[in-house]
Amino acid sequence: MDSFLIHGGSRLKGKVEISGSKNSALPIMAACLMAEGKSTLKGVPRLSDIDSMTKLLGELGCHVYRHEGPASIVDGPSLNGPLDIEVREEDKSEARYDIVKTMRASICVLGPLLARRGKAIVSYPGGCTIGDRPVDLHLRGLQKLGAEFQTINGNIVGTVKGRLKGRRMYLGGAQGPTVLGTINVMCAAVLAEGQTVIVGAACEPEVSDCADLLIKMGAKITGHGTPEIRIEGVDKLTGAEHRVIPDRIECGTFMIAAAMTNGELELKHCNLDHLISVTDRLDEVGVHIERENGTIYCSSSRRLNAVEMTTQPYPGFPTDLQAQLMALLCLADGNSVVTERIFPDRFVHVGELNRMGARVRKEGPTAIIQGVKELQGACVMASDLRASAALVLAALMAKGTTRIDRVYHIDRGYEKIEQKLAAVGAQIERVRENKAAA
Ligand code: EPU
Repeated sequence: MDSFLIHGGSRLKGKVEISGSKNSALPIMAACLMAEGKSTLKGVPRLSDIDSMTKLLGELGCHVYRHEGPASIVDGPSLNGPLDIEVREEDKSEARYDIVKTMRASICVLGPLLARRGKAIVSYPGGCTIGDRPVDLHLRGLQKLGAEFQTINGNIVGTVKGRLKGRRMYLGGAQGPTVLGTINVMCAAVLAEGQTVIVGAACEPEVSDCADLLIKMGAKITGHGTPEIRIEGVDKLTGAEHRVIPDRIECGTFMIAAAMTNGELELKHCNLDHLISVTDRLDEVGVHIERENGTIYCSSSRRLNAVEMTTQPYPGFPTDLQAQLMALLCLADGNSVVTERIFPDRFVHVGELNRMGARVRKEGPTAIIQGVKELQGACVMASDLRASAALVLAALMAKGTTRIDRVYHIDRGYEKIEQKLAAVGAQIERVRENKAAA
């Protein structure tokens, strides 16, 4: 378990290459299970979650091959070598607990396996540090298409008699739409007989990106990116070439890093349209943001304003940037209020930020943040991917040295984060496991 040592106080300045989206790449890789022939995916980041999905697809009979890309970060991580995925055997249909427990996105193989192979055994993902994460909506949607489910020894065991049948359905839940649930049902519906209409679908760009790949493979989908997706079933899909969208959460994290350090960052390969609610809040905080084609210029040269923010489904403020914005608001002028509407328990970072001198009080799904003049370096623990990113941001501004343990959480979702930060002036060093234990 590696750690980061971060010496705070450096102003970040320079260029950062934003990677392809992890949350787009994972379901897109799973969707390749449904195609005949080879698919080639570009812009897939090098992350441990991508390695887990690669392993899972290998166990499900796929040949997954990563082409060599540029070796150096200077050439840009977005130029990572393409990933080829080809289904070679279709007799296995099990996603084991050992893989699912490390990566919840393993649930994305459920819809594709049922649609193409007529059966699937996927270990129940269970909860995680960001709270209870049920999969009832995934199962409900797939049941409406004709799949049958049983729970056997902690596994979801799904079967389909004959072929799935298209249907009109409502897929929203108590917390709103489901991103991966929408993708699972959309994938399955593509190979179902007849028309499916998903009402209450998630509108996240990652859903649209997966739909765009499926369309290239031969699927007939319209309405993706809106709450009503229409799918005309087809008999087969053929492998296609696709570039995944830029990682909007990584981009937002670096925008916040620029703001917190009173820095000046040029973020390459971004799509600011996917970050409209984030720029809205950062504007109010006092951050200067400009765009030119795929580049975002983000800077700040003064104390930051306190704001109110509520996480919401897209295009609202993303839950995946809540912790990072909170780290910034710890240093703002005045009191801020952050409400979490997607995962009401996603506040594990609060205790660690307070250990660094922040003043955050949690009341149910809301956190009240009293801005302080400075944070102090401390030993803190990474607990989930985005909470860990928030600690990195806090450490960049803290007085003295912060040691963040268990950074494997960050490695799940931020490609080469320490190299990218160091290249723009951060003092950050990875301490390898055996050195950290000494
Ligand atoms: N929900 C249900 N039933 C379901 C599914 C979801 O009640 O069957 C609830 C959840 O408990 C939550 C809400 O619906 O309250 C939304 O959850 P959603 O299903 O949209 O989350 P997800 O698809 O499992 C993806 C991302 C998460 C991101 C959420 C929300 C991936 C691999 N994961 O999860 O990303 O927070 O959407 O935008 O795409 C991360 O990257 O750090 C991360 C956690």
